[in-house]
Amino acid sequence: MPTLLHLAASPRGALSFSNSAARSTIARLRDSIPNLTIVERQLGQTPLPPVDQHLVAASLMPAAQRGAAELAALALSEQLIVELEVASIVLISTPMYNFTVPAALKNWLDYVVRPHRTFALSAAGKAGMLADLPVRVLMASGGPVHPLHDFATPYLRHVFQTIGLADFEAIHLEQMLRGEDAVARSQQQLTRWQVGFVEQMQVRLRV
Ligand SMILES: Cc1cc2nc3c(=O)[nH]c(=O)nc-3n(C[C@H](O)[C@H](O)[C@H](O)COP(=O)(O)O)c2cc1C
Repeated sequence: MPTLLHLAASPRGALSFSNSAARSTIARLRDSIPNLTIVERQLGQTPLPPVDQHLVAASLMPAAQRGAAELAALALSEQLIVELEVASIVLISTPMYNFTVPAALKNWLDYVVRPHRTFALSAAGKAGMLADLPVRVLMASGGPVHPLHDFATPYLRHVFQTIGLADFEAIHLEQMLRGEDAVARSQQQLTRWQVGFVEQMQVRLRV
């Protein structure tokens, strides 16, 4: 059964441009991919707890030495990683905050990007341990995004590559706070992108 993992990083619920872009993208996918299961994490509205000392200690400890307390400290991290492992597609809807990703999304990454679990460490560097799958990011910003000041897209591309997810694309919904015309232009671009994306996913999931 194909599964889409939707990570929603805006705290603004129904007012959020990125959330609304994700909702329309998911609706189109559902129309074309039978039995598509949606798993949703509202990271912005229901933030994950901050990473604490127990999680860090348990994560750095050799797996064989972990007892009940360490396994409990890792439980949420494990759950989030398994959600990623069983997904066929990851769709992230997020605002741009201060040139990068909001803390809510960064926090999720700190739970899933884990040494010896989602990436391996060697003298040659880091190697991803997850099977590749498409990661698509719908990113809303208030103004235009200058490539030199966009720290979100290169960061997300790199961090997903680190855990093995190299099939990455970010779609920018720019100038969301610059009036109706700008919003309408972004909406048109989104619709064009969605058509291609649905076709791509149909081929990939062989439906
Ligand atoms: C804390 C904060 C920081 C922001 N930083 C930026 C920024 O760096 N660049 C930008 O273009 N817009 C910035 N914005 C505007 C948001 O990206 C914009 O309102 C966007 O629509 C939010 O996404 P959402 O509608 O999905 O919640 C910021 C907004 C907030 C609240």
